Amino acid sequence: MDRFYITTPIYYVNATPHLGHAYTTIVADSMARYSRAMGRDTYFLTGTDEHGDKIVQAAEKGGLTPRAYADEISGHFKALWPELQITNDDFIRTTEPRHVRVVQKLLQRIFDQGDIYFGEYGGHYCTGCERFLTEKELADGLCPDHKTAPEYIAEKNYFFRMSKYQQWLLDHIAVNPDFIRPERYRSEVVSMLEMGVLEDLCISRPKSRLTWGIELPFDTDYVCYVWFDALANYLTALDWPDGEKFRRYWPVTQHLVAKDILKPHAVFWPTMLKAAGIEPYRHLNVHGYWLVKETKMSKSLGNVIKPLDMSWKYGLDTFRYFLLREMKFGNDASFSEEALVARRNSDLANDLGNLFNRVLAMCQKYFSGVVPAPSASDEDLKELAANAVANFVRLFGNCQFSQALESLWELVRGLNKHVDSQAPWALFRDGRMDRLADVMYGVLECLRKVAVCLVPVMPHAASEMLAQLGVVGSPALDGEAGAWGLLTPGNQLAASSTLFPRIDPPVQAGAACPGPKKDKAAKPAAATEAGPARTETPCGPGLVEFADFQKLDLRVGVVREVVRHPDADRLLLVQVDLGEEKPRQVVAGLAEFFAPEDLAGRQVVIVANLAPRKLRGYESQGMILVVRTEQGMELLTASGPVASGAKVS
Ligand code: ME8
Ligand code: MG
Repeated sequence: MDRFYITTPIYYVNATPHLGHAYTTIVADSMARYSRAMGRDTYFLTGTDEHGDKIVQAAEKGGLTPRAYADEISGHFKALWPELQITNDDFIRTTEPRHVRVVQKLLQRIFDQGDIYFGEYGGHYCTGCERFLTEKELADGLCPDHKTAPEYIAEKNYFFRMSKYQQWLLDHIAVNPDFIRPERYRSEVVSMLEMGVLEDLCISRPKSRLTWGIELPFDTDYVCYVWFDALANYLTALDWPDGEKFRRYWPVTQHLVAKDILKPHAVFWPTMLKAAGIEPYRHLNVHGYWLVKETKMSKSLGNVIKPLDMSWKYGLDTFRYFLLREMKFGNDASFSEEALVARRNSDLANDLGNLFNRVLAMCQKYFSGVVPAPSASDEDLKELAANAVANFVRLFGNCQFSQALESLWELVRGLNKHVDSQAPWALFRDGRMDRLADVMYGVLECLRKVAVCLVPVMPHAASEMLAQLGVVGSPALDGEAGAWGLLTPGNQLAASSTLFPRIDPPVQAGAACPGPKKDKAAKPAAATEAGPARTETPCGPGLVEFADFQKLDLRVGVVREVVRHPDADRLLLVQVDLGEEKPRQVVAGLAEFFAPEDLAGRQVVIVANLAPRKLRGYESQGMILVVRTEQGMELLTASGPVASGAKVS
């Protein structure tokens, strides 16, 4: 029996799940469902990555121990997946004892055979990436992904002799051209390996600096480097080395990741496996990044898309369909609610939903709502269906999800044309019932095929469609391309179907949605030394007239530069870009809540027409709006990207 093992990255527990995590996990889920429908013995793994500096820092910020913090965030991931109908077989956490055992065994094995040595090294460490960046990888001294300056760290550590496997890896990729796919990432890795000398990998951290990790089995003064620990999760879940699952699934391993973690998966991981005497995985499938209106999602820009919001607002099936249809696997794609609604209305409501509903209504009228028995079939339609399904199956299996759906929609659109050109209503009027039965059967059979193909992508809508066609049981995708006539005449059909009603375009991107509300409303507070202005008004104490409110000029800007006030501890001198000729200087009492580097680059809302005044010798030309929370302060930002200087109203 064919087998299939699919993994997602294990996500860091330093942030709650967003669109990017949901995308990878939904893709993996669709692949797992596809593989099950193809009759394969399938295993699907996801989980969380919980050790390392990044987690310690995030926990500290939240005032929790790393363990309590990891428990909490890991719980968010674990709770989200059923909401998105993710069918993972296991959820792994790197803090589990089973994983600690595997990492230590792997380390010991590589150590024993001589590929781990002790040495000294200095390098540029990016906590965002949790790895040392080479000089070449830096852009103007900054990490190109995180735009932060890496820390220079020099200390004694253990190293994995990765360099020894450089040529082996190049050869392996040459012999297995689809080891890394799509092609653009394969060639990126090949040129990385061909251009530079592969350095050995530092795989430890002294406990004097970091204790939140797995202890090295051969030196208790050290913990394991987080990437070495994390990658091994794919083995832990299969009970490496002796587990039955390992024997069964390891030879058919496919990893799914985005381009941000290409190097650890394409270079560290296969060489680690080789050193431990384990066969490399079969495929590394690499996708691009979801952008929001052409910019990277980030907390500071306030444009992070929450998957549950989208699923609540537009329905899970539509959300899943959109993600797979909109992103060409391997390339970046842009997320917007407008684009999602456009796809829903054109592909799902117009092309598919309307057709399905029309066809059911016709069958109701012409054949009392049962599948008619055909006497002949239309060869052109059969061929169109066979090609569309064959292409769908092939492309989906190659991770070309968007193209696979596109080719399935050739059938959907072909069916619309077919109905129009065959004009069943005219056949009925003319009493040509045999021909009418042939036409309607053909269309119903094709709709069954469409539904079967859609099971991996839109599990709920597809099984609803099948039920409305009177199909029972879960259909196999395997062999579907060559098969015709699997829909049983006499099946009871639904009288109508409203799977994908049209929806209105969003009034405003990021508008409120019916999710659970935040527990506590935080109190707004003013950030400059001067508190918010108190105005006495004729409408009662504490109230302002609308006209007075309108006098405030609130604008959105981006923080360009921040320095500490030379002699006032609480004050920062913040340069805010409002799209004006030059940035405004705001003297803000934020120093105890934000380090200058934490503010730089962030979006803020400021009172732009506050009369300028001098604070401790520096002119302040506005006030930054913030919200006090139990943990500290949060900046007010817009929920989507807006131009610098945009007016708040
Ligand atoms: O890197 N678009 O975890 P992580 C598409 N713990 N996918 C995105 C995305 C975006 N904008 N943002 C994130 C780690 N992702 C390590 C992995 S594996 C042994 C250890 C998805 O929480 C995408 O899958 O930073 C990306 O590779 C992953 O989240 C990174 O998740
Ligand atoms: Mg990341």
